[in-house]
Amino acid sequence: MMLLEAYTLGNIALKNRVVMAAMTRARANTDGVVGDLTVEYYTQRAGAGLILTEAINISADALGSPFTPGLFTAEQTQAWRKVTDAVHAKGGKIFAQLWHTGRIGHSVDRKGILPVAPSAVGITGQQHFTSQGPLDFEVPRALTLEEIKLTILDYKQAALHAIEAGFDGVELHAANGYLPNQFLADNTNLRTDEYGGSIENKSRFILEVMETLIEAIGGERVGIKLSPFQSYGGIVLNDPIASFTYLIEQLNKMDFAFIELMKRSPMFPLNPDYPTGDEVEIFAPLTTHTVIANCGYDKDSAEAVLQKGLAQLVSFGALFIANPDLPKRFSVGSELNAVDFNTMFAGGEKGYIDYPALA
Ligand SMILES: Cc1cc2nc3c(=O)[nH]c(=O)nc-3n(C[C@H](O)[C@H](O)[C@H](O)COP(=O)(O)O)c2cc1C
Repeated sequence: MMLLEAYTLGNIALKNRVVMAAMTRARANTDGVVGDLTVEYYTQRAGAGLILTEAINISADALGSPFTPGLFTAEQTQAWRKVTDAVHAKGGKIFAQLWHTGRIGHSVDRKGILPVAPSAVGITGQQHFTSQGPLDFEVPRALTLEEIKLTILDYKQAALHAIEAGFDGVELHAANGYLPNQFLADNTNLRTDEYGGSIENKSRFILEVMETLIEAIGGERVGIKLSPFQSYGGIVLNDPIASFTYLIEQLNKMDFAFIELMKRSPMFPLNPDYPTGDEVEIFAPLTTHTVIANCGYDKDSAEAVLQKGLAQLVSFGALFIANPDLPKRFSVGSELNAVDFNTMFAGGEKGYIDYPALA
């Protein structure tokens, strides 16, 4: 089975092609510091060829949801060191996912400060999960040009902290409607400066962040996650094929480790103006980088996408929550545990570190 074969990513030797997808689990403390439960959670999953961590806030201003971790203070960085040491001791590899939530946040969890975004456009008709329960989204404050430059430096600093914390690399979270995706999209970016208007300008933020990360820690330690047709966070692109084709072509000019292509989750409706095709089939052939295919894969469909040569790695989200030893289960063809949706963000050990592994 190709899925269980080794793969060299940049200059990192992965023991198999089963990647754990980034998943927010909301188990950090109010200072964004992860604890022993998180060490245990990732250690249990070190059989993955590569772990992509839950999204990690790059700055206080990046934070959108309660109990999510950070990589901007010394305490946060030192706490992650325990995770990376434990994963490495088990022969695993681990990248930190770098996160800025942009408009997907709420002032109640941001010390009263409004979220920031490319433009002052709020999410309507949806509520945000906050520490005070579901609340209507607010209208964010538009970032100034100077703040955009400072935000890019926040990504750089977080990447340097990631390396200090022992991570093998970082993944830029440019998917699912968060800040980089908000720059690229048409309904969230109404700017008239060099970060708005044309597709070239709307891609600029993502490309500048990638250039900065590559320069700071080396391209072999940098990846990016994209979700071209995902509408999560109220994201709308006028022409997603044109925008993502341009973005991927520009990314082809840079030397880095991978693009994770997330297909639209069936939990979110397809924008009626979007193409109905499979994002991995459409976009993977355009990139010169290693592709991690994501969303909705099981053992057979993952093997098929590898065999077709569309992707070199496949990432699994929900299956990894419920099956800490997922590669082993694939290898022996055993039953899979079912995921409990109620405990995904519930805090504590239940539904976090108590899913059984095979004997
Ligand atoms: C509980 C949960 C939390 C998630 N948090 C993140 C996240 O922090 N960053 C991210 O890029 N994707 C996040 N995702 C999306 C997953 O990385 C993945 O793209 C998605 O679950 C589809 O893969 P799957 O069908 O194998 O689960 C999350 C998914 C789940 C189920």
